[in-house]
This record gives sequence, structure tokens and C-alpha cells, in this order.
Amino acid sequence: METKSQGYLHGYTKEEQNRLYQQARFLETSVFESIDFSKSKRLLEVACGVGAQTEILLKRFPHIKIDGIDASQEQIHTAEKHLKNSIAKGRVNLKLGDAGHLPYQDHAFDSSFVCWFLEHVNRPVEILKEIRRVLEPRGIIYCTEVLNATFFLHPYSPATLQYWFHFNDHQWNLGGDPFVGAKLGNYLTDAGFNNVTTEAKIHHFDNRQPEMRQQMLDYWTQLLLSGTAQLLNSQKVSEELVNQMREELDLLKLATDSIFFYAAMQARALA
Ligand SMILES: C[S@@+](CC[C@H](N)C(=O)[O-])C[C@H]1O[C@@H](n2cnc3c(N)ncnc32)[C@H](O)[C@@H]1O
Repeated sequence: METKSQGYLHGYTKEEQNRLYQQARFLETSVFESIDFSKSKRLLEVACGVGAQTEILLKRFPHIKIDGIDASQEQIHTAEKHLKNSIAKGRVNLKLGDAGHLPYQDHAFDSSFVCWFLEHVNRPVEILKEIRRVLEPRGIIYCTEVLNATFFLHPYSPATLQYWFHFNDHQWNLGGDPFVGAKLGNYLTDAGFNNVTTEAKIHHFDNRQPEMRQQMLDYWTQLLLSGTAQLLNSQKVSEELVNQMREELDLLKLATDSIFFYAAMQARALA
């Protein structure tokens, strides 16, 4: 079963790995405010990356043991360094592997955490079925995923919107899905999960929260630029478009009435 997409839009540079730590911390409140693993003891984190969310899970739920798996040797290597104390204490166990073929026994876990991952695969339902296999009956899963169609900026920023189209189109052509957030309800149901609920995680910043707006625009600029090397290499965007986008984003940060809107999706379900 082939579950990976043909490429990973963000790449595995040191800069990108650092971006994942910053991203997890910046979005922690939004991602975790509805997540409750207080009854969990053994959690599987699928696509744990560099351990950025693992660190937060360990802090928020001090009683759980976490198994993390990721398909990239570079990510696992960095996660092992980052989490070495928790690994030494026996709280974390990391493995290199494909989410479509989880190297764990049936019903091995009571909970699972999946974040910013399903956008990168071409057979999400197969992966969710595989996660369900390793969860206990009524084990809990939370998936937090992108819904890139929801992105809005004011003042109107046409170069950024064009770049965003190519960013998403490239990911789609790689076999991923930048709109997967809206499909989580269907996918979890198709994979056999029960009691599926979904929630939009809305990030709407205007003149009422100028500091948060600024931080979000800085974070979003890094996210947009994380795809630039691949988009330039594959000739999806030109240097000129990237420069125009940078100028627009700089102007947005100076504008007195700018607006940022984006909604991610979070699903909760029982195996
Ligand atoms: C955007 S990162 C998110 C990492 C982490 N969940 C976080 O929020 O920081 C996506 C991760 O998915 C991993 N990945 C992609 N395809 C995979 C697969 N088929 N099985 C396991 N991991 C995969 C990548 O290596 C990458 O580390």
C-alpha cells in the first residue's frame, strides 16, 4: 500500500525543522485548547516530525507515554536529539516508518495525535484505518489539519494570492491535499471511526489585536516561504512573483487596517 505523496512540499532543511518548533509553539493554544488526553496512558503520534508537538504533549499531559513515528530519517534524528531526556526517562519512543504500515500491534494505544500531516499523503483513509487498527476500541484520535481555501488577506494582495494558488496546486500535484481539513469528517467515518466531531480553528486578526496580527503575519510569511525553493525549482513561480509577494507582506505589516483570516480544522473521533 503506497500512502506517501510523491514529495514533501516543505523539505527537511535545518531552517524548516526550526520552523516546525516555532509553529507548534505559536499555534499551541489554538491546537490544544479542545484536546483532552487526560484519560490516556499510551499515545501514538503519527508523523511526529522533529518532536515539536511531542514536547507540548509531554508538558500538557505529564502522565502519558508517547510513541512517535515519522517517515523521514532527518526528522526522527532531530526529534531524538530534541527529546533525549524524555526518551531516557522512558516517556518517548521514536521510530522511523510509514504511517500506512504502522509497526505496532493491534490495539496497542488508547489515543492518537495527528497534526499538519494528512495534507501530505495521497491515501488518508488508508492511514486512518491503520491508526484505528492500533487503537483500542473507543480509543480517541484528534486530527488537526489545514483548509487552505479559507485564507484571506486585506489589503488585497494579488501576488500573494497567486503564489498561494501555486503553493496549493503544487502540493495537490505532488499527491497531497491542502484542503483535507474539510474532509476529515468523511475520512474518519470512512475509516470506521465513531462519534466524529469537527471544529474550525479560526484565526481572525484585525485592528482589535494588532500584536497577534503582527505575529501571525510573521509566522505566515515563514510558512509561505517554506515552499519557495521547491516552487522555484519546479518553475511554478518566478523570482519576480516571490519578490512581489514579499513586498505585499511587508506592506500588510505596515498597514493600519490589515486583516488576516485563516481556518484550520480539528476532528475528534473514537475508534
Ligand atoms: C508538516 S510536518 C508536521 C510534523 C508534526 N506533526 C508537527 O506538527 O510538527 C509533516 C510530517 O509528516 C511526515 N510524513 C510525510 N509522509 C509520511 C508518512 N507516509 N508516514 C509518516 N510520516 C510522514 C514528514 O516527514 C513530516 O515530518
